[in-house]
Amino acid sequence: MSVYSLQPVQIGSLRVEWPVFLAPMAGYTDGAFRSLCLEQGCGAVVTEMVSAQGLMRHHVRTGYYLETWGEEHPIGAQIYGSDPAAMAAAAAQIAEARKFDFLDVNAGCPMPKIRNRGDGAGLMRDPAKMAEIVRQVKAAAGEKLPVTVKTRIGWCADTINVLETTAGVEAAGADAIFLHGRVASVRHSGPSDWNLIAEVKRARRVPVIGNGGIKTATDVFRMVRETGVDGAMVGRVALGNPWLFRDLRDWAAGREPRPATTDELRAAIHEHLRREMELMARKGKKELKLGAELTACLVLRPHLVRYLRGYRGFGALARTLEERQDAATLLRRVDEVLATGRKCEAPAGEPAPDQ
Ligand SMILES: Cc1cc2nc3c(=O)[nH]c(=O)nc-3n(C[C@H](O)[C@H](O)[C@H](O)COP(=O)(O)O)c2cc1C
Repeated sequence: MSVYSLQPVQIGSLRVEWPVFLAPMAGYTDGAFRSLCLEQGCGAVVTEMVSAQGLMRHHVRTGYYLETWGEEHPIGAQIYGSDPAAMAAAAAQIAEARKFDFLDVNAGCPMPKIRNRGDGAGLMRDPAKMAEIVRQVKAAAGEKLPVTVKTRIGWCADTINVLETTAGVEAAGADAIFLHGRVASVRHSGPSDWNLIAEVKRARRVPVIGNGGIKTATDVFRMVRETGVDGAMVGRVALGNPWLFRDLRDWAAGREPRPATTDELRAAIHEHLRREMELMARKGKKELKLGAELTACLVLRPHLVRYLRGYRGFGALARTLEERQDAATLLRRVDEVLATGRKCEAPAGEPAPDQ
């Protein structure tokens, strides 16, 4: 078998044909970016994390995090919280919406305002509660949707308890585990422990999807080969580079991947902004003080940093990103940057220079 092959993964009732998942990344992976990744061959996506309390109270803003751009499938909705009843109520609501293919419980977010309330990574400090949440979420939504858990190897280097937490959620009925091989205290820096990911994979019956430390397209295959996981979840390396997912399909099909051309990059940025504007236009006036167009331009800013890093003229654009600008002005500036050319071409499957 080729070193570039992957097998479908069965997550409860959901079969994911190509087990390469786009990681949820708050502030980045809304419907506009997720749909671009799916179109390039990404196997499945997950929403940004959504507060269970917010959903339960029907906060309008919370609901926007669950907006999709057209038909995005397979897609998981990710919820966070530490009150089992609220998590179950949110899960029931999401299952009722019939828009999602699985439901993911966030047990890994290290942001202080989340983890200090006991949500996200805070759940790893209370494995019994983490399992109870999965049990109640499963009871509320498990008939309709597979339930997954995205977690980390531990809270900090001294308290690595992933074998305990994942045994608990498996016994509580989780259908798969997304495992980020870092502890919460380092957030997103430093190496991801693939050895421990491999150990968890060996210990669990449910599928384990590895995450963390994938720096190139070929690392996806390497992670699966070296750890035995059932699939890989790709985070930051896909930002500004949805073609990473095309590269993976090319490797698997025995084709030499090719870097995205400047025309493809230009078309993707224009389309990304168009989709952001469409998503923003769905929001109410109260939510959008600046209007849909200016807000969409603001949302695109961190993506532009990723798309255009490595282009000679990027510095000039970066200095204007703090300004409010309409879509026509922003895209004209993007086109000017693209015309300056790259400092050097990134080899296919590799991150762009200085990424
Ligand atoms: C800006 C940013 C936002 C993130 N938001 C979420 C989130 O909403 N939910 C979640 O489970 N993980 C979140 N993560 C963690 C990623 O899903 C992923 O686990 C992490 O980036 C490690 O993967 P990587 O090394 O491939 O980037 C976020 C990470 C980043 C960098």
